[in-house]
Amino acid sequence: MNNTIIRVKNLAYSYTKEPVLNDVNFELMEKQSMAIYGNNGSGKSTLLRLILGELKAKEKSVYIRDEDVVNKKDWSNVGYVPQANISKNIAFPVTCEEILAGSQYRQMGLIKMAGRKHYKKANEVLESFNLSAYAKVPFKELSGGLQQRVMIARAMVEKPELLILDEPTAGVDEQSNKDFLSILNELKLTGELAYIIVTHERKLVEEILELDQAFELNNGRLEHV
Ligand SMILES: Nc1ncnc2c1ncn2[C@@H]1O[C@H](COP(=O)(O)OP(=O)(O)O)[C@@H](O)[C@H]1O
Ligand SMILES: [Mg+2]
Repeated sequence: MNNTIIRVKNLAYSYTKEPVLNDVNFELMEKQSMAIYGNNGSGKSTLLRLILGELKAKEKSVYIRDEDVVNKKDWSNVGYVPQANISKNIAFPVTCEEILAGSQYRQMGLIKMAGRKHYKKANEVLESFNLSAYAKVPFKELSGGLQQRVMIARAMVEKPELLILDEPTAGVDEQSNKDFLSILNELKLTGELAYIIVTHERKLVEEILELDQAFELNNGRLEHV
C-alpha cells in the first residue's frame, strides 16, 4: 500500500503579481512529522491554506492520499490547529465541551446543532487529553497553554491521520510550549498521526522531538535545514 499522505508538486501561488510560493515540493508519509520555519510573511499560512483547500491550488499540485485537494470533499482525515493568537480571539463565552462538540458540525446534516452524542464524544476526547475538569469552563478563561491543549483536542475529535498546525505556540509561555511539544510527540508515537507544523521561531524546530523533516521557507521555496 502507498503510505504517502501528502504530495506537493511544483506548487506555486500568488495573490497579486508578486509570487508568494514559487516552486514548493515535498512528500509526507504516514506517521511522519515535518516542521517548516520561515520569517513572517514568507508564505507559511498560504502554503497551509492551499493544503487545506481554503485557497485554490493549481490542479495536480497538492494531493492528500492521492486525491487532488482541488476535488477533495471529505476532510475528516485532516485536523487543523490554528495560530495561538487566533484561538485567543474566541470572544463569546463558549465552553470547552461546546468547542469540541461544535467541531463535529461538518458531520451533521442540515440542522446544525450539536446533539447528545456529540457532547458525549466531546467529553471522551477532553478526558483523553486530561481536560475533563475544564469541560464547562469558558474557553477564554483558560491559560494560553490550556487553550492550546483544547485546540489540539478539538482537532483530534475525528481521529485524523494528518494534523496541520499553524504557529500553534506563538505567544504562549515556555512551560506551555514544552507541554504542547510533548503532547504532539505522544500523539505521533501512540497514534497513527502525521503532522506538519509551521513556525517563525527557529528555536521551536530544534525543540521538536522525533522530527522527520525540517525545512525553511525562503523566497517561495523549501530548503532543507
Ligand atoms: N489575502 C491576501 N491577499 C494578498 N496578499 C496576501 C494575502 N494573504 C497573505 N498575503 C501576503 O502573502 C505573503 C505571505 O503571507 P502568509 O502566507 O500569511 O505568510 P506567513 O504565514 O509566513 O507569515 C505576505 O506578503 C502577505 O502579505
Ligand atoms: Mg502565518
